[in-house]
Amino acid sequence: MNIILLGPPGAGKGTQAARLVAERGMVQLSTGDMLRAAVKAGTPAGLQAKAVMERGELVSDAIVSALIGERLDAGCATGAIFDGFPRNGEQVAALDVLLEERGQKLDHVIELEVDEAALIERVVGRYTCGNCGTGYHDRFKLPATEGVCDVCGATEFKRRPDDNAETVSTRMTIYRGETAPILPLYEARGLVTRIDGMGEMDTVGTHIAAILDGEG
Ligand code: AP5
Ligand code: MG
Repeated sequence: MNIILLGPPGAGKGTQAARLVAERGMVQLSTGDMLRAAVKAGTPAGLQAKAVMERGELVSDAIVSALIGERLDAGCATGAIFDGFPRNGEQVAALDVLLEERGQKLDHVIELEVDEAALIERVVGRYTCGNCGTGYHDRFKLPATEGVCDVCGATEFKRRPDDNAETVSTRMTIYRGETAPILPLYEARGLVTRIDGMGEMDTVGTHIAAILDGEG
């Protein structure tokens, strides 16, 4: 089963994708994570992407589509979760081609509906373990022991350079102007289910599970 998680910055795409990886063994394909890894590794794609990401703008369609193609070829037999891709009409067309070339199809597009005013707090309060990448939040998800990762015990944490109020505002504007307009394309194919992304993380996860199990 291949699904897209769609929603603005801070909607919970990464949070819910991580649950699906843990609970169902699906594979998370986050273009944001792939680009951050490319920036860190200093690859040609990363060098092009760094400043664009720090401004909160979209990296080129060619770069992100190539990253997705590579990951699909690395194997997603248990099902792919597209997290942060596609983000405009060109990327919708690119994903159609990438899946068709591999004899695959999309099963669901799940839109996380959220109150934009709440998102700034979600994004600006977010941090991750510097060792294993587990996600936390200053208010909504603290480690059990302050300053110690629940999963690996590391004590170093990091924040994304684009998680500041100004860049988040640019990311929101781009979501509204370029990404939200792809929803009608998938609605015309009968693939879209909207869920309330403002509930507790577990409640949102239960709704997504029901959709994947054909009960949503
Ligand atoms: P990307 O990394 O995809 O960022 P984004 O779309 O802005 O989304 P986020 O990762 O910020 O939010 P999320 O929905 O994953 O939320 P999360 O689960 O972490 O992209 C970054 C940049 O890369 C882009 O700006 C662009 O430059 C580039 N890029 C990426 N893909 C691209 C593409 N396809 N084309 C071109 N450029 C591309 O949750 C946020 C916080 O809220 C967390 O702390 C979490 O703990 C908390 N939280 C989550 N759910 C809940 C809940 N239900 N209740 C309370 N708190 C919650
Ligand atoms: Mg994310």
